[in-house]
Order: sequence, then C-alpha cells, then structure tokens
Amino acid sequence: MEIKSTEYLISSPEVENCPKGTLPEVAFIGRSNVGKSSLINMLTNKKELAKVSSSPGKTQMINHFLINKNMFWVDLPGYGFAKVSQAKRGTWTKMIWNYVEKRENLQTLFVLIDSRHTPQKMDIEFVNKLGEKAIPFTLVFTKADKESQKEVSEHVGQFKKELLKTWAELPTIFISSAVKRLARNEILAYIEALRAAYIPAEILKEKTEK
Ligand code: GTP
Ligand code: MG
Repeated sequence: MEIKSTEYLISSPEVENCPKGTLPEVAFIGRSNVGKSSLINMLTNKKELAKVSSSPGKTQMINHFLINKNMFWVDLPGYGFAKVSQAKRGTWTKMIWNYVEKRENLQTLFVLIDSRHTPQKMDIEFVNKLGEKAIPFTLVFTKADKESQKEVSEHVGQFKKELLKTWAELPTIFISSAVKRLARNEILAYIEALRAAYIPAEILKEKTEK
C-alpha cells in the first residue's frame, strides 16, 4: 500500500460524534505512551499527522484521519494512564469500549504493546476482553529498537503464552519500531488487504438475512 494522501478530519469526544462510518476503518490503541501516534506517523510518512508527546496521556479524543481518500485511520487515547483522575479514566474507558463495540466499519483494532516489558496484566486483560466480545484485533509490539532482539522476542513469546492460556488461536502479530521504521511495509500491506476485502455492515446483514 502506498500512502498517497493523508488528512486529519476530526477529534471526537464520543463515538456518536465520529464521521459517518461510510469507509473501512482501522484504529490504534494501547497503553498511554506505547507509541500509537508515532506508529501512525511512521506508517504515513508524516512527522506530525498524529500528535506525539513524551508525557503520557497526549491523545485524549477519538481522532479520525482520512487516508488515500478511501479509508479511515483512528488514533485513540491510551488506556491505563495512572496519572489522570479516576473519573477521567472511567470516562476514557467508557469512550473506548463504546467506540470499539459500536463502530461497525472497524476492520481491526491494532493493540500496541511495549516490547520492553514482560506481559502486563492490563494488556492481557484488555486483549482477552476483545476476544470475549469477538472484536477483531491485531497486535503490534512497539519500540523494538530499545531492547535487544533476544529480549524483544522473549517478551513476545511470553505474551503469546499468556494468550494461549485462554485462546486456541493467536492473532496476527507485528514487531515494530517507529524509530527504525520496522515492519512498515508489512503493516501497510496488511491494512491494504483488509481494506480491499471490506464489506459494509449493512450489506453483510442483507446477505445473512437472505
Ligand atoms: P498517548 O497518546 O499519550 O497515549 O501516547 P502514544 O501511545 O500515542 O505514544 P506517542 O506516539 O505519543 O509516543 C510516546 C513516546 O514514545 C514519545 O516520546 C515517542 O517519541 C516515543 N516512541 C514512540 N514509538 C517509539 C519507537 O518505536 N521507538 C522509540 N525509541 N521511541 C518511540
Ligand atoms: Mg497518542
């Protein structure tokens, strides 16, 4: 997939405010500071399409980007940021799950995991909940430039093992670095394949009703 055009559309406080879901969509989620916005910038070859910050909690709304005029990419706020108030965390959690469950054009949710750490409870719980709700997701291990390859693959292996305690199958997994531009082509090809296979929800419903 070649990135021909990128356009920031809108930041929405709730799924109800998002652009009409008339195009296929992928979204990026994960703990605060894991590198969601950086990954979007790396993939699109734009320095500042999505706002990046070294302090966690930078992205606070549902941010829609129009890519190649034929699909939406969505930058979401991080979950599990300890430094915001309990009330705000509750609001974000509700907003995120509302978005994930109600957005019918969402083809996959990229869940970003920091490759520097052993499996974190919060990530495992989040992914397991997606599985329970049958929401399609893809894992991206980020910041692979920060540790040795050996450590990264150990952490990825441990994460897989955790998932296999609950699930028979593993999701698609990428290992990436925004700094080294690792896995850029692979992730873009994967997104393009999803987009090309997109069937709008209303057509899917018609088909299954027949
Ligand atoms: P929130 O919006 O706050 O939830 O964060 P985010 O997940 O969007 O993370 P963001 O892209 O803002 O990056 C957070 C910090 O990590 C920034 O200082 C980035 O420069 C850094 N960072 C992101 N990706 C990478 C990476 O692949 N390698 C390295 N070394 N640093 C990265
Ligand atoms: Mg962000």
